[in-house]
Amino acid sequence: MLAPITHVLGARPNFVKAAPVIRALAALGNRQRVVHTGQHYDERLSDVFFVQLGLPEPDVNLGVGSGSHAQQTAAAMTGLEQDFTEHPPGLVVVYGDVNSTVAAGLVAAKLHIPMAHVEAGLRSFDETMPEEINRRVTDQLSALMFATSPEAIGYLAKEGRPVDGIHLVGNPMIDTLMANLDRFDTAAVRAELGLPERYVVATLHRPANVDDPEIASGLVQALHEIAAVIDVVIPVHPRGRAVLEAAGLSAHKGIHAVPPLGYLEFMGLVRGAAAVATDSGGVQEETTLLRVPCLTVRPNTERPITITHGSNRLITSAELASAVLKACDDGPYTGELPPLWDGQAGPRIGRIITDWLARDG
Ligand code: UD1
Ligand code: UDP
Repeated sequence: MLAPITHVLGARPNFVKAAPVIRALAALGNRQRVVHTGQHYDERLSDVFFVQLGLPEPDVNLGVGSGSHAQQTAAAMTGLEQDFTEHPPGLVVVYGDVNSTVAAGLVAAKLHIPMAHVEAGLRSFDETMPEEINRRVTDQLSALMFATSPEAIGYLAKEGRPVDGIHLVGNPMIDTLMANLDRFDTAAVRAELGLPERYVVATLHRPANVDDPEIASGLVQALHEIAAVIDVVIPVHPRGRAVLEAAGLSAHKGIHAVPPLGYLEFMGLVRGAAAVATDSGGVQEETTLLRVPCLTVRPNTERPITITHGSNRLITSAELASAVLKACDDGPYTGELPPLWDGQAGPRIGRIITDWLARDG
């Protein structure tokens, strides 16, 4: 029997990106395994995505859980080494830039197993972000690199990656969005959460925004300023819950702080929002496709195409309230969208991997 293609998934954004790739590879008759590292383990950060997106149940969950970067990466590496040794993959496929991604890369490389990186070549050039380190290292270890935007190709080539392994394929996160558009029910989610017709969605989970109580407090004040004019719904990531609540997040009646939402509910809300304030990577892309104004509370982004070909703008905490309120008045983005964000990234990746395995695997 042919060695399987093994997908390593660990955290919420991985699940959204993997669904169309796994589906496309299955349609082409490939044998696949799914290894969940267990980096995210709450039902609302993990299981709900498998159910809503029709992902296959993981063959194994390594139960890595939370911890420091070293603890989490080391636990994932130990579990993955054993799994890859017991079930040798023909190819390992990893997604994005989380700790589980780089852990899989290091293990695969040392076991001489080829690897494909979905969402390769994104760069924020901000080495204070753990994700930037994870991206760079993962790309160095990958034989196949699937890029979501053209500038990634230049970055990868400049870092010495072989050009024949780099493929511009579009964006699998957008595949998932387009495939599920008919399932987003904005009115139903609004009714369930008691939201008026016009509202703003906010998400905050970057360490630089939610770990420091003073910074978090500045953001909460800005959200209160917005909520004085238009209701704000914020599905709160567990990372920032305690600090944001301690800063008084829920104290304003116009703030709807809710637990993390399932994909369909969350995207239903985003689609109907007057504007979105975020520090998420994926949300910058999803708002681009939906043409919903997006204000990103970060000094940089690894996704500049969402600014040049989308609704995204980088802002500081001090600008947050005025920028969001202005964006609500400005209305939807009407310009060009990024090339190849057409819902076909999964099938493109599927074909390239299948051909590569037949030739080089
Ligand atoms: C991780 C990724 C980040 C990604 C985010 C998506 C890394 C370095 N970071 O950040 O790039 O944007 O996921 O959401 O890989 N927790 C729970 N339940 C869970 C998981 C986590 O309560 O199921 C809490 C724990 O207190 C944990 C904290 O959240 O310590 C942070 O979790 P962790 O996986 O370390 O990083 P994220 O901030 O989720
Ligand atoms: N998401 C969701 N429910 C939420 C928040 C986010 O379903 O309450 C989805 C959404 O599709 C988003 C993805 O999860 O793009 C990844 O989210 P996150 O912001 O956690 O990760 P990042 O993209 O910043 O790594």
